[in-house]
Amino acid sequence: MKEFTFMDVNRLKEQIVPLFSEEWFLLTAGDKKKFNTMTCAWGGVGYLWNQPVTFVFVRPQRFTYEFMEKNDLFTMSFFGDTNRENLNFCGTNSGRDVNKIEQTGLTPVFDIEDTVYFNQARMVMICRKLYFQDINESGFADSQMKNAVYPESDFHRMYIGRIEQLLVKHAG
Ligand SMILES: Cc1cc2nc3c(=O)[nH]c(=O)nc-3n(C[C@H](O)[C@H](O)[C@H](O)COP(=O)(O)O)c2cc1C
Repeated sequence: MKEFTFMDVNRLKEQIVPLFSEEWFLLTAGDKKKFNTMTCAWGGVGYLWNQPVTFVFVRPQRFTYEFMEKNDLFTMSFFGDTNRENLNFCGTNSGRDVNKIEQTGLTPVFDIEDTVYFNQARMVMICRKLYFQDINESGFADSQMKNAVYPESDFHRMYIGRIEQLLVKHAG
């Protein structure tokens, strides 16, 4: 089993847009007692308030939303071109109805403060919540975008997290 090693987030060399738009990731929050994970594609990585940050977007009806609200840490697990079926499964089923761990065979790893990510990942970001804000209808400069993405007005909550640890598995 390959071990994760720490990487300096300032040395991160990724194609950031396809990392999100094509690779996707599992957003996980909770602890050993109870956690949930879901597939996400929307988000980003950057630099804000003198911190390396990530930002993710969670609709309020997601089970994962409850865990994002209750916990200080969340993780993002990236899988390269592996685990596609598992990502599809975790993006189309709710933890309210199924046990995603049993169904996928993903192996949870418990780390600092019991936060959870998956051993099958190639890269993991452990993030500490810094800020949240709901997308607001009045903020749309392009109202067509609001109509296209939020016909039900179920606006995402955006979470900005400081990247506390970047973990990678080296090939080979
Ligand atoms: C490729 C893909 C990307 C997704 N991206 C997001 C996202 O960025 N934000 C979000 O709220 N839901 C997103 N979803 C939907 C959730 O993953 C999906 O509703 C999931 O079943 C929620 O699980 P939960 O109820 O256990 O939290 C995405 C789904 C897929 C398949």
